[in-house]
Amino acid sequence: MENMFKSLLENHSIRTIYELSKIVMGKDPVHGWPHVERVLGLVLRLSEKYRDRIDLEALVVATLLHDIGRRFEEDYGEHHAVISARLAKHLLKAMGYNEDFIGRVEEIILSHSFSLNKKPESLEAMILSDADKLDAIGAIGVVRAFMLGGECRETIEDKIKHFHEKLLKLKELLYLEESARIAERRHRFLEEFLRELERDLEESRVY
Ligand SMILES: [Fe+2]
Ligand SMILES: [Fe+2]
Repeated sequence: MENMFKSLLENHSIRTIYELSKIVMGKDPVHGWPHVERVLGLVLRLSEKYRDRIDLEALVVATLLHDIGRRFEEDYGEHHAVISARLAKHLLKAMGYNEDFIGRVEEIILSHSFSLNKKPESLEAMILSDADKLDAIGAIGVVRAFMLGGECRETIEDKIKHFHEKLLKLKELLYLEESARIAERRHRFLEEFLRELERDLEESRVY
């Protein structure tokens, strides 16, 4: 799959989208290019099993663009997946991609988010949705949650609530068996981390 990706990158259009995403997403480890790159890695890993049944090019393009609208969410008052899909549509049209391909990419992007709650219709959309969720759990999920919490001046207790309300539920929202396999260790770590954190807090209590 690594080779397949390398040959995809030799495609001028995909290389352009890759470089564009890298610049626009920026260095933010929580939601920027490092997140997109990790999700891409997971997408390629999950795609191995289904390589004969999926449009890898549409999936890779959708992955590269899935969060591109995030930084404009407040400006437009829309969900970032909706903005990303719209931006992808215009960009891909200008690049000469056909309607079919563009429709596939839009569907994959629109179905990736936990909060938009649009169910994936294609295998490609299930793969991106799962990969995106896997990046929110495990050690990387803990790092992301607390980096974001710091940025938003949240308390540790706010974050614990977020673990219970969202992160611990993500494993139930995965579509593919292989994703569930990867999620198992990551989920276990979340639970272990939370136990330790609650123990530390209890131990440090003043009264
Ligand atoms: Fe997203
Ligand atoms: Fe994402």
